[in-house]
Formats: sequence, C-alpha cells, structure tokens
Amino acid sequence: MSAVTGGFGPLLPEERADAATLVRQGFGIPREYFDRSVELFGPGVMRGLRAGPEAGRAGQLVGCAAVWPMEQWFGGRPVPSCGVAAVAVDPAERGRGYGSALMRGLLEEARAGGAALSALYPATLRLYTRLGFGRGGVSFDWSAPPAALSAGPPPGDGWIRRTDASDASELAALRRSLLTTTNGLVERNEGLWSFALCPDGVPSDVYTLGGAGGPEGYVAVAPPADRKLNVADLCLLSSRAVRLAQGFLAGYRAQVDRVTWRGGPDDPLVLLAPERGVRADACDEWLLRILDLPRALESRGYPPGVAGELILEVSDALFPENSGSFRLRLSEGRASVRPLRRAPNGAEKAGVKPDDAVLSLSIGALASLYSGHKGPHVLRQVGLLRGGEDAVALAARFFSGPAPWMPDRF
Ligand SMILES: CC(C)(COP(=O)(O)OP(=O)(O)OC[C@H]1O[C@@H](n2cnc3c(N)ncnc32)[C@H](O)[C@@H]1OP(=O)(O)O)[C@@H](O)C(=O)NCCC(=O)NCCS
Repeated sequence: MSAVTGGFGPLLPEERADAATLVRQGFGIPREYFDRSVELFGPGVMRGLRAGPEAGRAGQLVGCAAVWPMEQWFGGRPVPSCGVAAVAVDPAERGRGYGSALMRGLLEEARAGGAALSALYPATLRLYTRLGFGRGGVSFDWSAPPAALSAGPPPGDGWIRRTDASDASELAALRRSLLTTTNGLVERNEGLWSFALCPDGVPSDVYTLGGAGGPEGYVAVAPPADRKLNVADLCLLSSRAVRLAQGFLAGYRAQVDRVTWRGGPDDPLVLLAPERGVRADACDEWLLRILDLPRALESRGYPPGVAGELILEVSDALFPENSGSFRLRLSEGRASVRPLRRAPNGAEKAGVKPDDAVLSLSIGALASLYSGHKGPHVLRQVGLLRGGEDAVALAARFFSGPAPWMPDRF
C-alpha cells in the first residue's frame, strides 16, 4: 500500500456535498438522511481527508468519517470513548491507503482529546484490526411470533402508559440502571436517542411500564407494517416490566406475524419467553480500540472482591505509549496502572519479579479481554494471548462480568 500524505481535519462546509456523495457511495444513504444525521450529531462530528500531491488531485476530498465523544460503560463506570461511523473513501481511490490514513488521523485526534476508547461497527475487518481494534461485543437482532411472548394475563399490579418521548430524559434516567449493570452500553447523545426512537426518521410510540413504586422500564414501538412489529428501543428493569412487555407485545398477535427487537445475549424477553419461536436473526460484532491504555483500565469498574496484580506486556503499532509492560493492580473495584521502565539493556523489564503473573497480548486482543467479550482462556487457546495458568486465571476474574452488548448501531 502506498503512503498517502493528504490532509486530515474537520470537514469544511464547502466539502459537505462531496462528503454526502462519498457516504452515498459507501452506504447507499440518501442525502436527506446524511443531512439529518449531521444536524443531529452536529456538523463538528465530520472529518475529511484530502488527497496529497501523489494522487494528481491534491487537496480534493477523498475520504470522510464521523466521530463524536461518548461515554461507554464497563464494570459499572463510564469510560471516555468516541464513536466512529460513516467511514467512506471515494470508490475511485480505494485500496491506496486513504481509509487507513483517515482512521489514523481520527484515532490520534480522539486520543489527544481525552478518549480512552473508540468503538465502531465494521463493514470490513482488516482495515480496523490492523489499526489495533479488537472484537468488543455484540448486538443481536431478535425476533419472535407475538404468541411466543405471551405469558398469560398481564400482571394485576402493573401499568402501561403512553409517554411523550420528545424529552428523552425520563427514558435516559431509566436506562441508566442498564448502563451500570451491564457492559458496553453507551450513554446516548441527542443523535443516538433520535436514531433509537426514530429509526429511519419515523417516530416510534413510547410506552412506560411500571408498578406502585414508579416506572420500571419502557418499550418504544414503530407503527406495525408488513405484518411485523419493530420494537425500536427497550428497557426492562424488573420481572414485572418483562411480564408487562410480554403482554403488551403479544397484544399485537392479530396484526403481526413477528416482533423484532435489538438486545444482548442475555435479553430479558428471550430469557423469559414462555414458548418456542424466539430467534436470533443476526448478531453483529462491534469493535473496540483502546486508545489510552492506563486511562481505559483505570476508568472502568471491576468486580467487587477481586484483588491482585497482573503484568500486561502489550504491543501497539500505532500508539507507542500503549506499548511495553504495565503493572495492573486491582482492589475494591478499581484499577491502578503503572508503566514499567525498560531496563538499561533494553531486554529485561525493570521491576518485573520472577513470581509476577504476566500476560502478553496485542492492543486488539486486550480490547476483547477488557470489554469482557472474550476471556483469557480462549484468547490463549487461539494464540492471541500468552500467559501462565495463574495469570490467565487472575485475568479471568479481573474482567469477568456480563457479556458486553449495545443496541445502538452507528
Ligand atoms: C472500507 C474503506 C473505507 C477502505 O478504504 P481504502 O482507502 O480502500 O482503505 P485502505 O486502502 O487503507 O485499505 C486498508 C484495508 O482495507 C481493506 N479494504 C480496502 N478496500 C476494501 C474494500 N473495497 N472492501 C473491503 N475491504 C477493503 C483491505 O483489507 C485493506 O487492506 P490490504 O491493503 O491488506 O488489502 C472503503 O473501501 C469504503 O469506503 N468502503 C465502503 C464503505 C465502508 O464499508 N466503510 C466502512 C464502514 S465501517
């Protein structure tokens, strides 16, 4: 791949139409949808890459992407992250290194701006894994015939009310319990809320579910169409909320053949489905990039009651600051990370004791371990991690927790 020298930076207003064309060619997204997304996330999210003199069209836009700051929750704590979407290179210029240059530009900028992580949904893997992304978690498309969700009469001690969702703050307050008890979910900004509640630009109707103590969840449903009911967004915080949602969705059984929704591997509607017929129609994997290793490890939470020390030997071709040996110390649900100096001879690491538990892995494999998406045993089995029994067992305890997932697609 030839080295490219074009300029990376914020998308200029006069480049917007060209960027819309790149995104149309990359994703089939019409101009109106592109404009709506840019307005929702703010024009400041767009970045552009211009060709350098090597291309014979110096200064012209050859690639674009969207990047925005967000908090992603791991172990009950928010970690400063950045979302990346709409990565597109001019079809006439693909395969020349522009996609990689664009990604490098935005990862460097995000890291310098304080992001410890970056997350994206990949359309192609090689581009991103070479830049240090690892598999971070999943997003399931579930579906079921409504009758498969019916668990008898709705609970008598609960209520369902249609809610005005023009202000998402009440929903955000409910959703916060999910953020703190699972892994991988992102705190939504206005753009992500709009994507969640108005898929394809059509507003869904939101129903809050609860009991005497107040709301315990919500269901947002798009208008039924083509004998399908699409649950645009879902948050069920109690067994009563699940039973209310089951009854609510089963109530559509005369109108639709299937109900669809997004969720994680341990989805409450799936876990409590009383009848067969629930299906995983798709499982997308999202990728995670650790941009700032100490910050990422120190920001997330860890299981209470797990304590100990691991030496992480990490390789990162893009950010040398993440490469080398780090002492990761865990106690009371928090981590501290100390880089270990290289010994003067350059070979041995100063400060590593003979009985230290040492794990060696790439920054991409560390992302899978960090999120909890892949455990150290399987990473070692496939050659993505090296370490002795004690180190692997300790890492399994450090990074245990709910399987990471995220319903938001961007
Ligand atoms: C994916 C895309 C951004 C890559 O841009 P690019 O300038 O061609 O990327 P690079 O030249 O830096 O290539 C980097 C790697 O990407 C992969 N790649 C390149 N073009 C690709 C394509 N058309 N399809 C799939 N993968 C591709 C290759 O694996 C390449 O590695 P290689 O050199 O070992 O073959 C570009 O193909 C594109 O705009 N695709 C359509 C939109 C899209 O899918 N975006 C990604 C959304 S997450």
